[in-house]
Amino acid sequence: MAALVEIQNLEGYFDTIGGDVRAINSVNVAIEEGKVTGLVGETGSGKTMTALNIPRLMPENFRYVSGRVLFRGEDVLSWSEDRMELFRGDGVGIAFQDPKAALNPVFTVGEQLGRALRTHTDATKDEARQAALQILERVRITDPSRTIRQYAHELSGGMAQRVMVALAVIHPPTLLILDEPTTGLDVTVQAEIISMLRDLVESMGLTVLLITHDLGVVGELCDNVAVMYAGRTMEFGDISQVFEKPANPYTRELLRSTESVEGGVGDLYSIPGAPPDLRNLPQGCFFQDRCPSAADVCRTVPPVVEVEPGHVSMCHFAERYHSMPGPLHISKGAEAEGGPE
Ligand SMILES: Nc1ncnc2c1ncn2[C@@H]1O[C@H](COP(=O)(O)OP(=O)(O)OP(=O)(O)O)[C@@H](O)[C@H]1O
Ligand SMILES: [Mg+2]
Repeated sequence: MAALVEIQNLEGYFDTIGGDVRAINSVNVAIEEGKVTGLVGETGSGKTMTALNIPRLMPENFRYVSGRVLFRGEDVLSWSEDRMELFRGDGVGIAFQDPKAALNPVFTVGEQLGRALRTHTDATKDEARQAALQILERVRITDPSRTIRQYAHELSGGMAQRVMVALAVIHPPTLLILDEPTTGLDVTVQAEIISMLRDLVESMGLTVLLITHDLGVVGELCDNVAVMYAGRTMEFGDISQVFEKPANPYTRELLRSTESVEGGVGDLYSIPGAPPDLRNLPQGCFFQDRCPSAADVCRTVPPVVEVEPGHVSMCHFAERYHSMPGPLHISKGAEAEGGPE
């Protein structure tokens, strides 16, 4: 069955005074109906910008180079603005990154929820109020009748995140985008939000694109995952494929740093070096400067290799990485010269 959304070979850049910022370089993601698809990567890797292509909410200085964004097989990039307007209402709901800033400061939570519902339906004011109370309960707000009277600045980070989610699902969209729903929250609140989201997604049967920089969150909530680096999807597949047999050195390094954080003992591992400058990207693979197995061939653009059905990796050594045992304890010395043997 074809996926609900397929982003295919998407490429584009931001036109800025300082030059072109090449933020989207080769993005391939499939979002299957009824599943949670994760989009993971370091800050600035293009996660939010990839997602905003679906409702076409890109900043106005973004320029498309190539690619398609298919929704049920139709390219949304070719739709008229009127059609997009309808689609943004019913097709996609977004819980934006940084909810405290994204919520409207001059309306109460109740007014915002009411407006969100009444722009999609002809609910009366009273019905909208009832629906607002119900949805706040579903996102596990303890005192909904108090919260609907509050303003964004009165909410804690965790509460603001719950309200942001409630706004996105009060009229359930075909696709829900959750942008960093656990970032900036303390560990206990993160765990509560994850558990709430899991129940909500299951009980409402939602299709979700979940953006996070945290592979731990991906492991908790996602069925499939796309790993992004400098505007490229380096790897895509289902969770067990990607976590158990990663076919890309970047994914392996990310898994390794996540393990070391979660293990809580020993040295914290972080990937050496920094992502490339999007104004001045290297030829070939963007990860080559930080890769434990970079070789001469990495100066040419890597192919997108399907290592098993539905599991793809953008790496010259995808097959060899895929056949290596476990993601951890990579023997760096053995790989330093000429790629993984
Ligand atoms: N309007 C713009 N003009 C120029 N560059 C932009 C613009 N909007 C975003 N960018 C750049 O595009 C890149 C990708 O941004 P994006 O917001 O998608 O990153 P992200 O992966 O969501 O990061 P984070 O984890 O910090 O949210 C970043 O380098 C960002 O600075
Ligand atoms: Mg972002």
